[in-house]
Amino acid sequence: MKGFLFLGLFLFFLVPFSSSQLVPAESRILFQIQQFLENPPVLQEWNKWTNFCFLPQSPSLVITCSGNHITELTIVGNKKSPFESLKSSSPQALSGKFSIDSFFTVVTKLSSLKKLSLVSLGLWGSLPAKISRLHSLEVLNITSNFILGEIPSSIVNFKNLKSLVLARNLLNGSVPDLKGLKILEELDLSGNNLGPKFPSLGDNNNNLVSLNLSNNIFRSEIPNGLNKFTHLQNLDLSSNKLVGPMPAFLFSLPAIQSISIAKNQLSGALPGSVSCSNNLKFVDFSSNLLMGKLPACLGSSSSSRNRTVINVWNCLSSTSTKSQHPHTFCEKQAIAVKPPPRTSDEKEQSTVKLGVVLGLIAGIVVVVGAVGFLIFFIVKKVVRNRDQGYKNDSFAFEKNSTLSKTADGGNARRTMRMVSLGLPPYHVFTLEEMEEATNSFDPTNLVGEGSQGQLYRGWLRDGSVVLVKCLKLKQKHSPQILQQHMEMISKLRHRHLVSVLGHCVVTYQDHPNTASTVFIVLENVVNGSLKDHLSDWRKRDVLKWPQRMGITMGIAKGIQYLHTGGVTGNDIKLENVLLDETLTARISSYNISLPPKVMRLNHYT
Ligand SMILES: *[C@@H]1O[C@H](CO)[C@@H](O)[C@H](O)[C@H]1NC(C)=O
Ligand SMILES: *[C@@H]1O[C@H](CO)[C@@H](O)[C@H](O)[C@H]1NC(C)=O
Ligand SMILES: *[C@@H]1O[C@H](CO)[C@@H](O)[C@H](O)[C@H]1NC(C)=O
Ligand SMILES: *[C@@H]1O[C@H](CO)[C@@H](O)[C@H](O)[C@H]1NC(C)=O
Repeated sequence: MKGFLFLGLFLFFLVPFSSSQLVPAESRILFQIQQFLENPPVLQEWNKWTNFCFLPQSPSLVITCSGNHITELTIVGNKKSPFESLKSSSPQALSGKFSIDSFFTVVTKLSSLKKLSLVSLGLWGSLPAKISRLHSLEVLNITSNFILGEIPSSIVNFKNLKSLVLARNLLNGSVPDLKGLKILEELDLSGNNLGPKFPSLGDNNNNLVSLNLSNNIFRSEIPNGLNKFTHLQNLDLSSNKLVGPMPAFLFSLPAIQSISIAKNQLSGALPGSVSCSNNLKFVDFSSNLLMGKLPACLGSSSSSRNRTVINVWNCLSSTSTKSQHPHTFCEKQAIAVKPPPRTSDEKEQSTVKLGVVLGLIAGIVVVVGAVGFLIFFIVKKVVRNRDQGYKNDSFAFEKNSTLSKTADGGNARRTMRMVSLGLPPYHVFTLEEMEEATNSFDPTNLVGEGSQGQLYRGWLRDGSVVLVKCLKLKQKHSPQILQQHMEMISKLRHRHLVSVLGHCVVTYQDHPNTASTVFIVLENVVNGSLKDHLSDWRKRDVLKWPQRMGITMGIAKGIQYLHTGGVTGNDIKLENVLLDETLTARISSYNISLPPKVMRLNHYT
């Protein structure tokens, strides 16, 4: 009897201290999870006799219990995510029956969970907001699945979260404000399509040790707020589209050990004086657009400190030039991607107009005058052997041309008739589309360059060849004016004009003056300019009298169309009249005025 009592007491003490019997409801939840996950190999041995709290632990399955409740659930499957399957086999999502919403409804009933890892299980769908019901959660790891859409903003309700790992999914859009996650130590959002805004992480109270945002589409400057991250050890921002300068403070963060900013579009000279933290062991800023000299602690003295520095494929001058691009490469590329420098020439208040411009001769030319002028030139076959190709100032945002009377475009929009030309509908492009079209502004696609921007050849998704004009604006907060202007341009379509097919406006919000780059996508008119035809004897023979008359009438009609729309002050030059396959004249450059004191130009050359 005494013996039994002793044994009973022994059991009584033993059970709560070793591990507990799971409450039946949570066992049922585990079986439901098994079914939701379509019985993956790692869970196949579960049956009604399984005691979940005593399962042997393995890297792919961990269940920890405390007080009859599950506190950790780690399940690592073998399904490849889209990120891993890019090159090898096809991705393996769960079947179409899977409902991520019902799945997380079940999972969130495990209300004591502190650590939840669901890795490589083929989960697909968008993360439901109800996930934040797991209020005790400290670690959430959903690496390598097919999670789509935006990160729910309810994620900031995880007040105890230390580790948020959503790597290698299909997440997109902007990251919700994470300021509320005050004790976060690890954030890994790598391998998604998140962006373009750099996540807001809060800058006081920061415990972040590891930040991995690599392989996304973040496009902004590296925020200065990062300098408050005194515990940060690992920073991986590689393979994004980050722009602007390389901030010097990163290297001197007290705890920093490893920094990767490779494959971005950081530009400008490296900061001259940089002091590196003693802990810093690894730095990779290869494949950016950086220029200038390496500061000492990243250059000459780095090897003596066992510090690895990878700097290839920039335009640096002090390293072996073998694996560096020439200086001009970075300059050109940087113009296409970076916000303009912070200049302060505020006095320059001249009336500036935004225009799609042609080369220049005279002021307001009446139609008859222009026709007479052109007939004169064509008949006389004026020959000048200047280089052919695209004239610098075509389609520029022009500064010094005469101001049109009907400048606000309102009349113009009413008077201009839309002409159906078999052109694709006007399209507002994204910067990604512009990059795709020009192969990231590859220098081999650069066909012309002037004081105000570059002209690139590009290919749209439908295969058509276009020209992309990049223009940098320094703008005084007038997106409406820019919008109005682009709307006006979009309506200028006529048989005798080179039409604008679309545009893309990139605004750098981070920049104090809110600067913009405008990309204008133009029809590619293939047959060269009128000037080429008149100056090149092989082409000249093509132009018989009827063709010349046709061209002249075409120019006149084009000019008339522009004038009816209030677009005057266009100075027509032979090299800006292009000819298409049928020798139809196409005016390639015209002015559109904007109200004065709105736009100012940025002369970056
Ligand atoms: C998340 O899961 C991945 C894949 O199993 C693992 O490498 C990583 O260490 C995990 N991170 C955390 C914080 O659990
Ligand atoms: C994100 O992806 C979803 C579907 O995958 C799409 O409908 C949505 O437009 C995307 N959002 C953004 C901001 O790209
Ligand atoms: C960041 O994430 C990427 C992709 O998930 C991974 O390849 C890389 O090793 C991570 N970086 C660090 C420093 O852990
Ligand atoms: C660099 O590494 C070598 C070998 O691992 C070691 O002997 C040396 O002390 C290290 N130098 C510094 C400055 O840490």
